[in-house]
Amino acid sequence: MSKEQGKTDRRQFLKYAGAVGVAAAVVGAGIGWVAKPTPAPTLAEAPVVEIYHWWTSGGEKAAIDALVKVFNQKYPDITVLQSPVAGGAGGPMRAVMRSLVLAGEAPDAFQMHAGYEGKPYFDAGNLDSINDVWTEQGFAAVIPSVVQDMVKYGGDFYSVPVNIHRVNVVWYNKAVLDANGVDPAGLITWDTLIAACDKLAAAGLAHPVSIGDSGKWTDTHVLEQIMAGEGIDFYEDWVNGKVVSATDSRLVHALETFKKYLGYVNPDHSALTWDQATALVIKGDAAFNVMGDWANGEFLVAKKIYGKDYGTLAAPGTAGMYGLCIDCFQHPKGVKHPQNSKKWLAVVGSKDGQDAFNPLKGSISVRTDSDMTKYGPYQGAAISDFKAAKYMYPSVTHGSGAPEAFATKLNDIMSAFVDNKDVNAAATALTDATKAASADYTTVWKLH
Ligand code: GAL
Repeated sequence: MSKEQGKTDRRQFLKYAGAVGVAAAVVGAGIGWVAKPTPAPTLAEAPVVEIYHWWTSGGEKAAIDALVKVFNQKYPDITVLQSPVAGGAGGPMRAVMRSLVLAGEAPDAFQMHAGYEGKPYFDAGNLDSINDVWTEQGFAAVIPSVVQDMVKYGGDFYSVPVNIHRVNVVWYNKAVLDANGVDPAGLITWDTLIAACDKLAAAGLAHPVSIGDSGKWTDTHVLEQIMAGEGIDFYEDWVNGKVVSATDSRLVHALETFKKYLGYVNPDHSALTWDQATALVIKGDAAFNVMGDWANGEFLVAKKIYGKDYGTLAAPGTAGMYGLCIDCFQHPKGVKHPQNSKKWLAVVGSKDGQDAFNPLKGSISVRTDSDMTKYGPYQGAAISDFKAAKYMYPSVTHGSGAPEAFATKLNDIMSAFVDNKDVNAAATALTDATKAASADYTTVWKLH
């Protein structure tokens, strides 16, 4: 990205009024490393750094391996122990991490979304501030303030972002659309997308839309983009905990839209993983999939060419909007290898690290000085869209936008909705969940 990207943060599209408050707790890490029994207090820490993440799909694995390679080029004597916990969007890994942190066994760093997701750890005193890493590495000069604000609590830095994913993306199979005379440029409302699904179904494509991991997080992911398509005012109200009426016409309309959309999905949507759902589009067994741009990594692994084999649209109603999902690593308190943890964080935020990881991951670099020659055509378009975005909004599905208490219930509610398609019940449950979590809405988002 050029310096232009830095300008985006000067616009007032997103402002994070961070949370405050910290309690003390000390955790330690256990990684199975057996140090030689030399009781020297000055002994350097073991040459190991243990990290947890949930990047197990083809594209995700390629990306994290590329980042580890950059780390090993810089620190050939330090072994990176990767502990991946499978499960898109990180639900299973978060559960593992909570137990480890509570047991005083936090690893040296773990994948975490920017925004609300880190707040419970911060509140419990499980994180160390890493202002020193930010200063030493000069991150603040090259990372837009919109992102900086999302990785601070109480005014201090607590994590380092490794990417910016866009969540409001529809992926499509170009041959399928071309063969059926569907012009993707015309799919700018959910009604036009649904009309295209009707056309494709009439032509014999049994399930024009693919979903995987249904019942876990992907239903929420789709609903979130439909909610954003109802307008930035509505989305802002939603993430600020202000959508509290079950008869709110925008909420009801979003759920009605999602219900229609569900009429076109593959019947095995709960059995497939998210990347298997992407594969349905890659193979042409489905035409559309709404997914964050980690999906691009799967198209790349399958050697598909952007613009020739596949393409993307902004989720209907969200042109000019950029839904943000930001992965980070942090420095848990009391880790076994504190210096190596900080070395890892330095590489995570480095230009070389970002420009190795992101071209394979599908995301864009958080840095304004990234090497554009390393990025493919999808990301070229994403970077332009990011620079030109009128509004940015934090993903709720991916940890940033709303308190954990709400986000967890949201997944359960959407899982039930996919089965019963009961708009009133879902609207009531959603607004009840917001009210129940009202004390946790400590961030005031200003999205426009
Ligand atoms: C998101 C995460 C991405 C990607 C995706 C699917 O929550 O931020 O990096 O991994 O889940 O697992």
